Amino acid sequence: MARSALLNVMVQAALKAGKSLSRDFGEVQNLQVSLKGPGNYVSQADRKAEKIVREELLKARPTYGFLGEESEEIVGTDGAHRWIVDPLDGTTNFLHGIPLFGTSIALERSGEIVAGVIYNPATDDLFTAERGGGAFVNDRRLRVSGRKNLSDSVIGCGVPHLGGRQHGRFLVQLRHVMGEVAGIRRLGSPSLDLAYVAAGRFDGFWEEYLSPWDVAAGTLLIREAGGFVSDLSGGNDFIEGGSIVAGNEHIHKALVEVANRPIPKA
Ligand code: IPD
Ligand code: CA
Ligand code: CA
Repeated sequence: MARSALLNVMVQAALKAGKSLSRDFGEVQNLQVSLKGPGNYVSQADRKAEKIVREELLKARPTYGFLGEESEEIVGTDGAHRWIVDPLDGTTNFLHGIPLFGTSIALERSGEIVAGVIYNPATDDLFTAERGGGAFVNDRRLRVSGRKNLSDSVIGCGVPHLGGRQHGRFLVQLRHVMGEVAGIRRLGSPSLDLAYVAAGRFDGFWEEYLSPWDVAAGTLLIREAGGFVSDLSGGNDFIEGGSIVAGNEHIHKALVEVANRPIPKA
């Protein structure tokens, strides 16, 4: 599989951040048992990873903009291009020693995502996609699952947590979806959830109250793997809009319908 120079830059940045996160993850596992816990240590690991990615990307393309979760947005002199980065997606997992986290890097060109990389250093899964060039995990081509019915499907989701929004609204969605599907999973890392849909591991996924860096790379992976992505209402505002529904043609359509069903009468 031939990678463009730009995708290579993104892969190198993700691998370098991954090395740093891997070292820190080892330390976090030791700190689990300490009284103070690994909280501060994890915030530092997160910021360090973003610094690594930012430096690598801006070294290669100094005029591009940079939107990362952990720092002020940099508006580039090149108005068309912007990097969108979550240096550590799955922070709660990382903090608890659960190996489901990763770095997500997307490149936006004139409002469209044209390249994406998601790397989980704990499993060494490197997901890559370029617009028109397909999606891959460690150089193996990805394809969304072929299941046609929700009743055979495993669906990923995000669950609002302490301080999170709209617990009641989520419970209504969950009530409807769980009545139709074979299983529901909550990984705790939306970028990996989307990569899992692209890889056919999950048949679908939905979550609300997300940020552009959670979904930018993953949505390209899914489209390049033959899948469908929309916001919760079935529209196209899924990068900035905060909500996302993903799956193959059949499961995506069914999931949009089921997740929007009204509150059942008592
Ligand atoms: C969060 C987590 C969480 C999801 C949130 C995300 P972070 O990202 O991935 O699972 O439900 O919506 O914002 O803080 O780990 O980068
Ligand atoms: Ca995130
Ligand atoms: Ca993050």
